[in-house]
Amino acid sequence: MTTNDSVPVLTIDGPSGSGKGTIARAVADRLDWHMLDSGAIYRAVGYAAGLKDLDLSDAEAVARCAAETRIEFRAPGDGGETRVIIDGQDATDAIRTETAGAAASAIAALPPVRKALMDKQLAFRQPPGLVADGRDMGTVIFPDAPFKVFLTASATERAERRYKQLKAKGLAVTLTSLLHEIELRDARDASRTVAPLRPAVDAVVIDTTGQPIPAVVAEVLAVVRKA
Ligand code: C5P
Repeated sequence: MTTNDSVPVLTIDGPSGSGKGTIARAVADRLDWHMLDSGAIYRAVGYAAGLKDLDLSDAEAVARCAAETRIEFRAPGDGGETRVIIDGQDATDAIRTETAGAAASAIAALPPVRKALMDKQLAFRQPPGLVADGRDMGTVIFPDAPFKVFLTASATERAERRYKQLKAKGLAVTLTSLLHEIELRDARDASRTVAPLRPAVDAVVIDTTGQPIPAVVAEVLAVVRKA
């Protein structure tokens, strides 16, 4: 296991559609730090388990799948979206569907799966620093991180953001079904017994409802630079 406790980490947690991914990417680029998209890891495992026809409630089988699945992140040459490679296959688009999100949320509630993914996530802590985006980055994975933020936004606005993102990818979705999916996923993520979605006690909570991306990026960068 590679841990590097002296490397600074900025954790960005929050519910789906709170803008974490976009903000984390922008802040990592500005700081020139590495980036961990932990949601993509859970999505990849849900997807891989689906391909193997596993019962998504079978904790031990899915945990084995989590341990065995090779998940790589590849920077695209053209500065576009980071590619997610699962066991050698590009699954970037496949893991972004709402079905993949629901599968991720289901397997993420299983303690052995979370345990199996712990070391994979810790390994991202490399110099000069890491921006870690997820649900439990500040509470469980990097509790000692010197910088923590928790992003929120109203459920309606989050559904609208996801709608635009998925539409832009050409996926067939409706706003009503997205809002429903988001509310279900929030409820499941917040009520699970292991690593429930909640801000770390030492996190700065930022409500992004109605805020343009550059304003949120500036607010998050200020958390790091104030130190
Ligand atoms: O962030 P994203 O929407 O890609 O995450 C998909 C799902 O993965 C979440 O709904 C959540 O259930 C799970 N997840 C998690 N812990 C993380 C990141 C994601 O449980 N650190």
